Amino acid sequence: MPEGEGGSEHSAATDELLQRARARLAEAKTESALLAAKAAFLGREGEIQKQLKAIGALPKQERPAAGVRLNFLREEFEQMFARRREELRGETVQRRLQEEVPDITLPGRTSGAGALHPLTLAAERAAGIFAGAGFAVADGPEIESDFFNFTALNHPPDHPARSMHDTFYTGDGEHLLRTHTSPVQIRYMLAHRPPLRVIAPGRVYRRDHDATHSPMFHQIEGLWVDETVAFTDLKGALAQFFRAFFEDDKIRTRFRPSYFPFTEPSAECDIRRGKGEWLEVAGCGMVHPRVLAAGGVDARAFRGFAFGMGVERLAMLRWGVGDIRLFFENDLRFLRQFSGE
Ligand code: FA5
Ligand code: MG
Repeated sequence: MPEGEGGSEHSAATDELLQRARARLAEAKTESALLAAKAAFLGREGEIQKQLKAIGALPKQERPAAGVRLNFLREEFEQMFARRREELRGETVQRRLQEEVPDITLPGRTSGAGALHPLTLAAERAAGIFAGAGFAVADGPEIESDFFNFTALNHPPDHPARSMHDTFYTGDGEHLLRTHTSPVQIRYMLAHRPPLRVIAPGRVYRRDHDATHSPMFHQIEGLWVDETVAFTDLKGALAQFFRAFFEDDKIRTRFRPSYFPFTEPSAECDIRRGKGEWLEVAGCGMVHPRVLAAGGVDARAFRGFAFGMGVERLAMLRWGVGDIRLFFENDLRFLRQFSGE
């Protein structure tokens, strides 16, 4: 074999190899086809390796040039491989976009405008009416101390309302989920000087569960403390509130004698719309002198009335909802009916 011929043969072989490599990479349509092509050229049994072995058969002076060519080829191949892989990834993204988003100019899916929950609507409506009558709005903690929830409200230590099967104690023997909004009466009296006129809406908790009782529900506490406040003011304030809340001048209000440790006298307040049933919506009464004293108010100079109203009951009556549990099931078919309110 004349000198130089082996070299040009080798050179032709590497050129041809480069072209085949280029074609094979262009044909590869998937990542795995691409990896197979890489193995076929760069792998241990691959084409470049074969050419590398062939160098041994070349005349000595041609071997360096052949080595350089093969190194060049390897680098070329690696670059072509990387470019093709990028291209392929781009194509895959495009294809998936086309499959999954048929028309990217279509408007996106939105969740639509939200609306207030009926209980929020009822509480805001009630608070708005009292605010219009000059009541301030206050709040208190839902995790309350036994002292504010019971003791300061004149409950003796063995009062049954404290029992474990009625209330949710936290386990430290002192704190519980408040069972009513009445503790805010004490907190507010301790923080402000009379005369006082305030409402306190919020969540309360009891072990109660049926069509008109929920273990978590909402109350609006009301407190009016002044020198001459009387039971007749309480009756007038509540009756007027119900007329405004229900936009119903014929609504009937009934006060039934009752008992709360923190009021004397005490009453339950029921209302009735049209030919409907009477439904208890609030407990109320004249603030007990011991409760005024616990709030730092001079019980000889001031008197007060207080009430605690059930927000769910107000909402049930306003919208004719027969079961309190509907408010907490989050069924959109139910909730959507209030979106126009
Ligand atoms: C009280 O909670 C007293 N703190 C109210 C009060 C305040 C009296 C100030 C005197 C002075 P009562 O347990 O009756 O009272 O509850 C008040 C109202 O909350 C009830 O009339 C009723 O409308 C509502 N209510 C009571 N329990 C539930 C319940 N489990 N689910 C929904 N509403 C309830
Ligand atoms: Mg009651």
